[in-house]
This record gives sequence, C-alpha cells and structure tokens, in this order.
Amino acid sequence: MASTIIRNGTVVTADLSYKADVRVENGVITEIGPNLAGGEVLDATGCYVMPGGIDPHTHLEMPFMGTYSADDFESGTRAALSGGTTMVVDFVLPGQGQGLIDAAQMWHNKSGRAHCDYSYHMAVTWWGQKVWDEMEDTVKAGITSFKHFMAYKGALMVNDDEMFHSFRRVGDLGGVALVHAENGDVVAELTAKLLAEGNTGPEAHAYSRPPAVEGEATNRAIMIADMAGVPLYVVHTSCEEAHEAIRRARQAGKRVWGEPLIQHLTLDESEYFHPDWDHAARRVMSPPFRNKQHQDSLWAGLQSGSLSCVATDHCAFTTAQKRFGVGNFSKIPNGTGGLEDRLSMLWTHGVATGRLTPEEFVAVTSTNIAKILNMYPRKGAVLVGADADLVVLDPALGKTITAARQQSAIDYNVFEGQEVKGLPRYVLSRGQVAVTEGKVTSREGHGRFVPREARPSVNRALAKWKDLTAPRPVVRTGIPATGV
Ligand code: URP
Ligand code: ZN
Ligand code: ZN
Ligand code: ZN
Repeated sequence: MASTIIRNGTVVTADLSYKADVRVENGVITEIGPNLAGGEVLDATGCYVMPGGIDPHTHLEMPFMGTYSADDFESGTRAALSGGTTMVVDFVLPGQGQGLIDAAQMWHNKSGRAHCDYSYHMAVTWWGQKVWDEMEDTVKAGITSFKHFMAYKGALMVNDDEMFHSFRRVGDLGGVALVHAENGDVVAELTAKLLAEGNTGPEAHAYSRPPAVEGEATNRAIMIADMAGVPLYVVHTSCEEAHEAIRRARQAGKRVWGEPLIQHLTLDESEYFHPDWDHAARRVMSPPFRNKQHQDSLWAGLQSGSLSCVATDHCAFTTAQKRFGVGNFSKIPNGTGGLEDRLSMLWTHGVATGRLTPEEFVAVTSTNIAKILNMYPRKGAVLVGADADLVVLDPALGKTITAARQQSAIDYNVFEGQEVKGLPRYVLSRGQVAVTEGKVTSREGHGRFVPREARPSVNRALAKWKDLTAPRPVVRTGIPATGV
C-alpha cells in the first residue's frame, strides 16, 4: 500500500497543537505519531499540518440574475485547492416548480468535474406539496441542510409562512435550516426609491441594504426557527445588528450559528465609493461590505465564539457580467469571489495579527462547519480514519494576491494587491498531493460527493425539549356542567 508521511510538522486541530508526523494511506490518515518511517516523505518542517479548509458557502456555475456565475466546479474547486480549501458546500437551486431531486441531479451533472470533495445544501426557492414531499428524499440522498432566501423578492425569496412550514419540516427530518437574512420587501422598496431619485450607481446597492435590513431578518429567522424547533445557520453575517441577534440567541440557549465572510472581515464600504465604476461593481454582493465598526464586531464574534465559520459565498462574475448593471445598480449580478484567498487572508488578518489562535483558525475554517453539517470527523479533523484532506501551512510563505496568477476564471480579484502570509506548502485531497508551493497538480474529476446523515444530536435535543414543553391541556379537578 502506497504510504505518504508528512514529516516534522506541528499538527494543529481545533483543540490542540503538537509535534507529530502524519501517515496517509488509501486517502485516509492511518497513523499519527513521532518519527514515522517508510513511504514518500513530504517535509513539513516549520509548518502547521491542519485539516483542509471547508468552504460552507459557494455558488459554482449558479444561474442567477440572468446569467451564470463564472467559476464552475472545475475552476472553482481548483481555485479552492490552490488556497488550501479541500472541500466546498454548494447550493442546489431548484427553479420555480422544479422538484428538489431533479435539481440535485442537475448539480450532480455539473459537479463531476470537481477537483476536490463537495457536498450540497438544498435551497427552498418555492413552496408547495412537491417540495414538502421531496424534502425527505433529499435528506435520504445526503443533503440535510436547507437554505431559505429572505431576499431577492420575485426570484428566490420565500415569505414567513413558507419559511415556517419549511423550518418545521427540516426540524422533523433532522436537518439544519439556513437563511440568507435580509428583508427582501424593504430592499425592493428602497431599491425602487433610490432608482427613482437617480441613484443608479453601484454605491446605491449598499444604500439599498442597510444593516437594519439584515438585523431585522436575522431576528425574524431566529424567532421562527425557535418556534419551529430547528437549528439555524445564518449565512454571510455582515453587521453588528445581525451578529447581536445571533449572540443574544446563543446566550438564550438557542441553537444558532453565524457565518461571516472573509470579504466582510477584510473589505469595507469605501470600495463602493471608488471613482471607477468597474471597481465598485465588482464588489457588489449581498449583504454589502460594511464599515469598520461592523468589521470589529465580526472579528470579536470569531474570537468569542458567537460567530462560528468563515466562508466566502464564492459567486464570481466577470467584469463583462457586472456591466449588465450600468445605469441600474439592481441589475449588477450580486456576488464576489474569494475561494482561493480565504485561508491566507484569514491567517494574515486573523492569526498574524493576534486576533485568532491557530487552533481557532482551524475551528472557523474547517472543524466547526464539519460538526454543524454532521460530517465530522470524516472531514475537519486530523485523526486516524479521517479523510486525508490536509493543508501543510507555511507561515513564512507569502505572496501578493493578483488576478494575473489566480485559478479563478474571472478577470479581477477583490483582494488585488493584498500581501498575504500563511500559504500552503502542500495541499492533500483524500491523500493525493494537489498543490505544492503554489503549483496545482490536482486532477479534474477527483472530487467526490460527500453525503451527510440527518439527525445530528442537536436536533434530538431540540426535539426532546419541544416535546417536553409542548402545549398540553390542563387536567382540572372541578369542571362546571355545560350551560349552567
Ligand atoms: O451577493 C451574493 N451573496 N450572491 C450570491 C447569492 C447569495 O445571496 O448568497
Ligand atoms: Zn400556512
Ligand atoms: Zn445569500
Ligand atoms: Zn450565497
């Protein structure tokens, strides 16, 4: 059996760091310990050996706003690996009236080209008996998390009634509910008003989605999830108002997780005031970038544990696609890239600044989401038996981020010019060396679908609590006779 030994590094997990070698055979970790011998050696001297990054939020080849996001499963997962991310979780988006199983098959047809492993969230983009019925088969097919868009009115948005029904069903099936939390009705009103007043540029995208829009929806989703008895994962938490709602919910014992994006942690709203239209439009995404106070709040959330996972929401559009919105900001396809740079940007702005420990870095880039999505310890762990999805991170290795040398298919990078440190010396995808110091040698089609099981323990606990506290008729001793 071919054996690879990652030698002389420091293993870093979400719990602890220690010096050890790691043996990899047949795609899994088979031994961890000192002075391992026999097999091909990858030198990890001076490096951290960590679970590969898991990006819980990508949109590869996503049909959206009249076009498709430019990175598909081929270029997107190649970009992911080059930056140390060894797994992505993408969103299946059923069309209006389309069945969930049918839509999942469409995603399977696209993802066959993936370089790294992947899983799916299912989006609930419309509501009806067919959706309710097929949710069970969706869970059986290994897709146990269901996303609800509270924004994009007239397209992907679901209303409260639909969300409550769906949340209850997800809870009963042992899944996790996800929300894009922005009040879509208010966004639609503000957008129309801004356009009518002549505010047509990309900066108006940010004006149309103030923090209150996100804070309101986050609070609403948390309360609806609580009433439905379902654990809730809030994607792309960008502001203090939303973070405050999540923090408060967690303090009150609710099972709620928040996901800041690396973009919101490191880029701010001034990007939208750039005199170059293309520069600003390339950064249009929902929610928009915020000011420094909001950024500080997100960092504090990662430090204190009130926010759990750092994602990218990678949804990359070319400059030509962004120009669909010249003269009308509401037609600029929403989304930015980041898959390739998430780990190095978080290491540089998080660990190298002392905001995060290396163990916390592992937790928020890999282990926490593996646990939330019930795929730990197969993913997100450096343990015997775990998939050998590993990054050997060299804290001394640096570069200047530039679109000219990226894997992503788009023609710019929102982090252009950033000096980063903490790059992979090696990246392994199920034991295969996929990256060596920036050189990508991964294989198209190597990636596999990772099915996930329902009924994580959180759901069992919630169901038990719901049952114990369910409304019951009071047993009375004296009941007056009817009509007396
Ligand atoms: O602007 C964004 N975030 N585009 C991708 C779709 C979504 O809302 O997640
Ligand atoms: Zn109803
Ligand atoms: Zn979203
Ligand atoms: Zn998204």
